[in-house]
Amino acid sequence: MIFQKKISLLAMAIALVSIAPSFAAEAPPADSKKATSEAPKAWMNKKLTPEQRTDLVLKEMTMDEKLKLVFGYFGTDAPWKNFKRPVESITQSAGFVYGIPRLGIPNLWLADAGIGVASQGGPNVREATALPSGINTAATWDLKTAYAGGAMIGSEARAFGFNVLLAGGVNLLREPRNGRTFEYAGEDPLLAGKIVGAQIGGIQSNKIVSTLKHYAFNDQETNRGTLNVKIDDAPARMADLLALQVAYEDGNPGSVMCAYNRVNGFYACESNYLLNEVLKKDWGFKGWVMSDWGATHSTIPAANSGLDQQSGIPFDQSEYFGAALKEAVQNGWVSQARFDDMVRRVLQPMFEFGVMDNPVSANPETINFKANGLVSQKDAEEGMVLLKNDNKLLPLSKAAKKIAVIGSRADIGVLSGGGSSQVYPVGGAAFKGGPQFFPGPMLYYPSSPLKAIQARVPQAKVTYNDGVDAVAAAKLAADSDMVLVFVNQWTAESVDVPNLSLPDNQDALVAAVAKANAKTVVVMQTGGPVFMPWLADVGAAVEAWYPGTNGGEAIARVLFGEVNPSGHLPATFPASEAQLPRPVLDGYPEVKDARITVNYTEGATVGYKWFDLKGHKPLFPFGHGLSYSEFAFSGLKADVKNGLINASFTVKNTGSVAGKEVAQVYVAPVSAVWEAPKRLGGWQKVDLKAGASTKASVTIDPRLVGMYDSATKTWKIAEGDYKVILAADATDAKATSVTVHLNAATLDVKGKFVK
Ligand code: BGC
Repeated sequence: MIFQKKISLLAMAIALVSIAPSFAAEAPPADSKKATSEAPKAWMNKKLTPEQRTDLVLKEMTMDEKLKLVFGYFGTDAPWKNFKRPVESITQSAGFVYGIPRLGIPNLWLADAGIGVASQGGPNVREATALPSGINTAATWDLKTAYAGGAMIGSEARAFGFNVLLAGGVNLLREPRNGRTFEYAGEDPLLAGKIVGAQIGGIQSNKIVSTLKHYAFNDQETNRGTLNVKIDDAPARMADLLALQVAYEDGNPGSVMCAYNRVNGFYACESNYLLNEVLKKDWGFKGWVMSDWGATHSTIPAANSGLDQQSGIPFDQSEYFGAALKEAVQNGWVSQARFDDMVRRVLQPMFEFGVMDNPVSANPETINFKANGLVSQKDAEEGMVLLKNDNKLLPLSKAAKKIAVIGSRADIGVLSGGGSSQVYPVGGAAFKGGPQFFPGPMLYYPSSPLKAIQARVPQAKVTYNDGVDAVAAAKLAADSDMVLVFVNQWTAESVDVPNLSLPDNQDALVAAVAKANAKTVVVMQTGGPVFMPWLADVGAAVEAWYPGTNGGEAIARVLFGEVNPSGHLPATFPASEAQLPRPVLDGYPEVKDARITVNYTEGATVGYKWFDLKGHKPLFPFGHGLSYSEFAFSGLKADVKNGLINASFTVKNTGSVAGKEVAQVYVAPVSAVWEAPKRLGGWQKVDLKAGASTKASVTIDPRLVGMYDSATKTWKIAEGDYKVILAADATDAKATSVTVHLNAATLDVKGKFVK
């Protein structure tokens, strides 16, 4: 026995000696930690799925490392909170989340980017290309333009070193006085969802993540942090949530931002209904939910209700997803599985959308601002809406000898909207005014309409008047062949407008000018719908929204007919506030922290649907937009295949110049009962030379012919006849229609036919 043991020990020794050299060759160097971080990481294998890669890296993470990913900081100093931004964050940025270098997980650098790479106000602002406002992009009704804008701002974001963008705002326009109307995409769930989905897709094509926000019902800024929206499940799913659902389906965003407000009694960021049930379970969202800045209110309810990441430390009352979350996981109030799910949801989009494999590195000098300005300009030109054009006053005649340009600082630039989405223009603002602090400053971009106009009529005398003194402006108007009066309405995050009238006596200015000269064209830069008490007295009116970086050039090109306007209103312009579901804005003027309730008794009857139902005649209907050409629709046919309505028709340019028309297809039930007489079912924007015609067709998303049923979580299509209407806007007197018959059908919660 003893002998045997000796032999075997000897054999082992020999064996060890014989294998020693190969061990030695692979032995870790003295600095073994370094070697670990440089060893190939299994989760960096691109052949694996994002899910597999996430699982692999998640297994390696300690609890403290996991906690890092669910905890976001503000990327800007906040001295009033005694807060200094993490040194690794990007100056004047919205957010920052620490990565885990040991595992190759990069930091997350977050920028606001509704219309371009935004900058928080302060000393070191970033200068970037600004798209026109979101409502302008919606007014293009053109998904390619929306995608191109997203792709452009995403490319600038990457060059500035950002890998997560807080873009993708799609709060449905229920309240035209909302200070953030300019950031969103209007009142129709399909149009808004499609436009924002395309923009998100464009952003993410840069291998970065974009965000869908503000989920949900943050439709007014007054008391946004405390107000409670009351709405039932079915109308919510058919309106505001449908817009978000369509944007989610089309854009596939990596993250979703929950909103400030409460919904049916629960904060949006701790609403089990919104986050767990609708977003994650019903729609199948796999990414992460981040809170709006200051919108987290708890640890355990928030984590268990579906919030994955607290954002914007120090805006909340407490660091809910810091030590408190660790304790909650350790004592079981938040399960380990849910905690891992939170982290997994942050990681998976990083793999899926390219953040892990294509690290960002800041090199802003590579940005081609000139080319990007043209992308923005195209969006502005495509979204500008010709509201009125009597006697073909526009396009402007180059024969005019004396042209008056009045108001709105049109001599130096174009207006932009305020708040966190504020983009600072390259080369500095043309004018800085408004509030010194958030949501200010009010910025004008240095793209002068006056200069762009003058450049096109060098022989004419173009005179500018600031419009402050209406009498002086009228005098100039009387002495001119042609008058271009610019009016504006500055709107901004965190404050609603008191009413839909233009501020600063601008209505009186236009009235005085129009009285002095009938050849008056009004160019409007507004956040959204406004009243126009002078409309009957002016020759033409153009809604230019906030037209972005090259706005002055875009306006001049439309006014002179270098571009034929083709924007159409993505929102109804009411004739009075009495026509709105809520004639008085709830809670206005704001009493700080008041816990008001806003009751959406109109349900899904939003915008034109409300106007149709009530028989109100708006100032301008949804979908309205003129052109320098004319178009005729003909040959409308509709059929039903596999339960889907398909409409086909011909559009002809009957005018004398090339132009684009938005052919809108609405559906109206003959016997079924909907929330409104009709809904937009689809559209096509066609580009036609003078005299040319084209065939077009639209297939209607079946959800748009159904009613959502909460009890069964399905969309029910009622058997019966439905009118398919082809129109140029929501109240088009020349609309034609055909009738189709639909069999009863059921769609699942995602809108797919249930067999
Ligand atoms: C806004 C968000 C924005 C965030 C970060 C909030 O005040 O509501 O839209 O993304 O700030 O700047």
